[in-house]
Amino acid sequence: MSYIEFRNITKIYGDSVSCRDVSLSIKKSTIHAIIGENGAGKSTLVKLLGGVTPVTSGEIFLNGNWYSPQSAQDAFKNKIAFIHQHFVLAEELTALDNLILSASSNFFSLYLKNTDDVYSRAQFLLKRFGWQIDLHKLVKHLSVGEQQRLEILKALMQEPDIIIFDEPTAVLTPQESDELLKFILQLKSEGKTIIIISHKLNEIKFVADYVSVLRQGQLVSSHLKTDITVEQMAELMIGRRVNKNKPQANNIDEKINIKIPNTDIELKKCEIFGVIGIEGNGQNQLIEKLLKKFNENCMSYGDITEDRIKLSVFENLDLREHLLLKHKNKFISNGVINSKALTDAAKKLVIEWDVRPQDINKPLSEFSGGNQQKFVVGRELLGEPEILLAAHPTRGVDLGAQEKIHNSLLSYAKNNKSIVLVSSDLDEALFLSDRFIILNKNKIFGPFKKDELNEQEIGLYMAGEI
Ligand SMILES: Nc1ncnc2c1ncn2[C@@H]1O[C@H](COP(=O)(O)OP(=O)(O)O)[C@@H](O)[C@H]1O
Ligand SMILES: [Mg+2]
Repeated sequence: MSYIEFRNITKIYGDSVSCRDVSLSIKKSTIHAIIGENGAGKSTLVKLLGGVTPVTSGEIFLNGNWYSPQSAQDAFKNKIAFIHQHFVLAEELTALDNLILSASSNFFSLYLKNTDDVYSRAQFLLKRFGWQIDLHKLVKHLSVGEQQRLEILKALMQEPDIIIFDEPTAVLTPQESDELLKFILQLKSEGKTIIIISHKLNEIKFVADYVSVLRQGQLVSSHLKTDITVEQMAELMIGRRVNKNKPQANNIDEKINIKIPNTDIELKKCEIFGVIGIEGNGQNQLIEKLLKKFNENCMSYGDITEDRIKLSVFENLDLREHLLLKHKNKFISNGVINSKALTDAAKKLVIEWDVRPQDINKPLSEFSGGNQQKFVVGRELLGEPEILLAAHPTRGVDLGAQEKIHNSLLSYAKNNKSIVLVSSDLDEALFLSDRFIILNKNKIFGPFKKDELNEQEIGLYMAGEI
C-alpha cells in the first residue's frame, strides 16, 4: 500500500508549469529518490508535500487520508520534516540557540516546554546518532558537515515520520557524504520514510530503494533501484544517451610560462589544470592572482566567472551586445561598430554552441540558465585565447548542456591551449583534469596527476585531515 500518494499533481507558477500531472506512490519505510535535470520540478514536488507552497491541482494522500497542507506548520503537524539544500541557520548564534529558535516557533506548544528541554532532547539525539557537535559553539565556527548535521538535528527534534532531503550532499566532502548516506539508511531501519533528491546517481544507487525520474515537470517513470543502472538513470533524465568515456590525460610537456600563484607549478599547454576543494578555501584569491598574472603578462585569456549573473552578464542586454562588450577590439575600429561582423559572429556562436532559442536580439535574461552558460562559454572562447579560466563552468546547467561544455573544454585544451578549471564538483574536476591541486584553508596540496589519488584520499585533503 502506498504511504504517500501524489495524484495528478500540477503546479503552475505564473505562466510556467513546474509539475505536470505527476502521479507517484511512495511506500512506508523506504528510501525513494527523485532524480532529474535542473529545473525538472524535483524541489517543487517535495515543496508541495512540505507545505511550502500549495498545489495548483491534484491531490496528495498520506496514509490514505487526504492531505492538503497550507503551510510548513501543517506538514510539521503531519510529522513531515524538510531538510533544505541551503542551510537555514543563524550564523551568529550558537548551535543551541538555533535549535531553540526553531523549537520555539514549532514545538513549544506541543511537547518541549522550555530551553532545557531542547538541550536535553538535542543531547539525546546526538548520542543516539553518535554525533559530536558542541552546541555552545557559534554556527559560523562549525564545519559545513557539522552545520548540516545541525540542520538535520533541527528537523529530527520533531520526531518526524517522513523526512525530505533536497540535495543533501551537494556541499559535503566524500567522507561526509558517505556518513550522511549511512545515517539515512539508519533512519530507514528505524521505520522512517525518506525522500531524497540528488544528482549524484552513484549515491542514489547506493542508498535508494526506489527511483523516480522527472523530466520537464513530468514523471518519466519509477523503478526499483535494483532494476536500473546509473547509465539508464542518466538517460532517462535527459531523454537520450549520455556519452561519458573518461578522457585520457594528454598534456604535452611544453610550459606556457605561467605559474600557479604561491606554487612552483607551471601550467602546460594542452592541459586542463583542476583546482579542487570545497568552496571558500582560497579559490577566489587564487583566481584573482591568476587574473593579475595574465594581465601583467599580456596573455590572451577567457574568463568564465564563478557567478554568471553578478560578474559575467547584464540581464537586459542581448547576445550581440554581450559579444560586443567583451570583444570591443574585434568589432570596433576607428570608433565604428562593424555591425555585420558582430551579427555574423553572434549567429555563428548560437549555432555552434546550440544556444536556444537562436535569437541574438533577445535579452539574456530570457534564456534559461543552461543556455546562458553555453553562450558565456562560447563568448569567452571566441578569439581562441591561450588560457581559459573556468570557474564552475557547468553550475546550474542541465546534463545536456553540461555534456556539451565538457566536450568543448576537452577539445579546446587539446588545441595547444591551457584551461584552469575551478570546480567544487569532484566528479567534474576528476573527469576533466589532467593534473589538479586541492585547496584547504588557503593551503595548496599537489599537483597530482589524473588518477593519482582516489576519491577518499582527495576527501581527506579537502577536509584538511592530511
Ligand atoms: N517560486 C517559483 N516561481 C516561479 N517559477 C518557479 C518557482 N520555483 C520553481 N520555478 C520553476 O519551476 C521549474 C522547476 O523548478 P524546481 O522544482 O526548482 O526544479 P529542480 O529542483 O528539479 O531543479 C523551473 O523552471 C523553475 O524556474
Ligand atoms: Mg531543486
